[in-house]
Amino acid sequence: MGRSMKVAVIGANGQLGTDLVEVFKEDSPFEVIPLNHKDLDVTISDTLGILKELKPDVIINTAAYVRVDDSELYPEKAFQVNAIGALNVARVASEIDAVNVYISTDYVFDGTKGEPYTEEDTPNPINVYGLSKYAGEIFTRNYSKKYYIVRVASLYGKAGARGKGGNFVDFMIQKARNGEEIRVVDDTFMSPTYTKDVARTLKKFLELKPEFGVYHMVNEGFCSWYEFAKAIFKILEWNVEVKPIKSSELKRLAKRPGFSALRNRKLEELNLKMRPWREALKDYLRERGYL
Ligand SMILES: NC(=O)c1ccc[n+]([C@@H]2O[C@H](COP(=O)([O-])OP(=O)(O)OC[C@H]3O[C@@H](n4cnc5c(N)ncnc54)[C@H](OP(=O)(O)O)[C@@H]3O)[C@@H](O)[C@H]2O)c1
Repeated sequence: MGRSMKVAVIGANGQLGTDLVEVFKEDSPFEVIPLNHKDLDVTISDTLGILKELKPDVIINTAAYVRVDDSELYPEKAFQVNAIGALNVARVASEIDAVNVYISTDYVFDGTKGEPYTEEDTPNPINVYGLSKYAGEIFTRNYSKKYYIVRVASLYGKAGARGKGGNFVDFMIQKARNGEEIRVVDDTFMSPTYTKDVARTLKKFLELKPEFGVYHMVNEGFCSWYEFAKAIFKILEWNVEVKPIKSSELKRLAKRPGFSALRNRKLEELNLKMRPWREALKDYLRERGYL
């Protein structure tokens, strides 16, 4: 082999992008090329010419319109970035023969299964954001020669989601510090996932060069948002009251799947185990200096 593999990260200063760049830089067979929104806009195909010049072996596309409620108001915006953007990236990836990694979401599922979704389950999105991401998956599958669709969920990482202005863990801590009342839904279940764990796993995954296709990549286990909030304060040993509420009490524009936990079945087959969400959360809190 000898030559290092060039990996272009689109959305490099995003929440996931930041940890991808950091982890792929650490002693590895990869050379990382960080690309921010100003370097390339996935919705404007001309700007993707930079990829033809750089000729990466792998493109990791984390660019997304991630505002779930706003996507109901501006569906064209969600589709422009999450679907058409994925189409544009897939076309360029094929042209330069690069492996195309599209980061997707648990929100492609409708939440009615009642147990964690595996890669074999059929998506059925119930909101605009989820459908725009599913459209992005289909473009990725049908327009790329070599692709991985990597579904993550409920991300938190030190950069915070740029599109959301932070992450859930930091929001909870801010609220507690401000002495605000904390009310969190206890009827919505998901797999909370640390972006650093996704980055580390994706690095090992790409080194293994598994079969192309769809993969789930979340921390092990699941919980309700209420349990997740409680876990944050338990680990911190802060005496903070968290009030459970029902999702119907929040007047939000987008419907959310009630149970969108994922199981990494195909990663398990590759012996790529991800640690339980509580362990990852503890590490995050320690790394952020909260603990
Ligand atoms: N956050 C979650 O809980 C979650 C859950 C499931 C799946 N995901 C998926 O995970 C991925 C990463 O999410 P994240 O939390 O890291 O979000 P994020 O922090 O908002 O990162 C998105 C990145 O994409 C860039 N971007 C946005 N529009 C772009 C465009 N048109 N062209 C090029 N770059 C663009 C953003 O840059 P600017 O801010 O400068 O525009 C930002 O750097 C997304 O694909 C998302 O759908 C996230």
